[in-house]
Amino acid sequence: MTFHILISDPLSEEGIYPLRQAEGMNIVIETDLTPEQLAIRIGDFDALLVRSQTQVTRAIIEKGHNLKIIGRAGVGVDNIDLEAATEHGIIVVNAPDGNTNSAAEHTMAMLMSMARKIPQAFHALRNKNWDRKSFVGVELKNKTLGVIGLGRIGAEVAARAKGQRMNVMAYDPFLTAEKAEKLGIGFGTVEEVLKVADFITVHTPLLKETRHLINADAFAIMKDGVQIVNCARGGIIDENALYDAIQSKKVAGAALDVFEQEPLVDFRLLDLPEVVATPHLGASTIEAQESVAVDVSADVVSYFTTGTVRNS
Ligand code: NAD
Ligand code: MLT
Repeated sequence: MTFHILISDPLSEEGIYPLRQAEGMNIVIETDLTPEQLAIRIGDFDALLVRSQTQVTRAIIEKGHNLKIIGRAGVGVDNIDLEAATEHGIIVVNAPDGNTNSAAEHTMAMLMSMARKIPQAFHALRNKNWDRKSFVGVELKNKTLGVIGLGRIGAEVAARAKGQRMNVMAYDPFLTAEKAEKLGIGFGTVEEVLKVADFITVHTPLLKETRHLINADAFAIMKDGVQIVNCARGGIIDENALYDAIQSKKVAGAALDVFEQEPLVDFRLLDLPEVVATPHLGASTIEAQESVAVDVSADVVSYFTTGTVRNS
């Protein structure tokens, strides 16, 4: 029996080794399909493997007459219509921890770049401008980092921030006193954390409850001169409210890896000198890309050979 597998976003070649090794897997890699082309092609496949680019909408799922499993090589499944998949009996698997370390490291890189204005200084230097006055930063040591969402990545970031001798305060609806104690961090309500933090980093999924969690009201209760990082999902921070908070000097720095609309179309925030940004690179390391692709490829093989998967 042959299973037909479509890979519609670029995945690590090493990462799809489990699929290449398994018998009876016909792997088709087509990473430039328009939604219309995907809707036409999808009916031929038993499995679809994506990263975050492919939008697996209800329309696509409804055309996937043979589709049994969708693998998301990464954490967030917000590009897949889960309700439609469930209605059609299609299993959705992701790679929940394959990129945790890379995302945590990227968060720390963004935090430090923002605090020391490294991208801005590099930009000036590249323009042959030896300017040592405009890029005075602030130290992390003894400052309080507020972590909103203490899951896999949030906890790794908290541990690294402790290494920078920061105080860490976290909010997560599932955070227990035991976990906080183990990590050596404080915890409180979201308002309590926002009030005391010098730096804030968000690590929640994008859900109904977390969309615009950081909005104008949230900025209003923060310290003046707070700096904020988003390496989780665009939309957790209200970008219009962030723009206003930077303009009013309430917010002294923002480090953004993710945006409400991706690829980015509204570059207004990036015109502000307080903002540093990357184009959704949190998981873009050789190690993470291999790891997430291995995880979902192994799940697809497992599903077609044993009928079970590690996670769904
Ligand atoms: P996770 O599921 O391990 O952790 C998420 C945490 O958020 C959980 O502990 C959950 O209890 C908490 N949470 C849920 N609702 C909350 C709320 N209203 N307030 C506070 N906390 C809340 O996920 P993770 O692997 O740590 O990923 C975190 C985020 O980072 C996700 O949005 C994921 O998609 C994103 N991510 C981004 C990149 C990137 O490339 N930038 C890479 C990996 C993951
Ligand atoms: C994820 O959710 O895993 C990240 O956003 C990284 C990615 O989309 O590849």
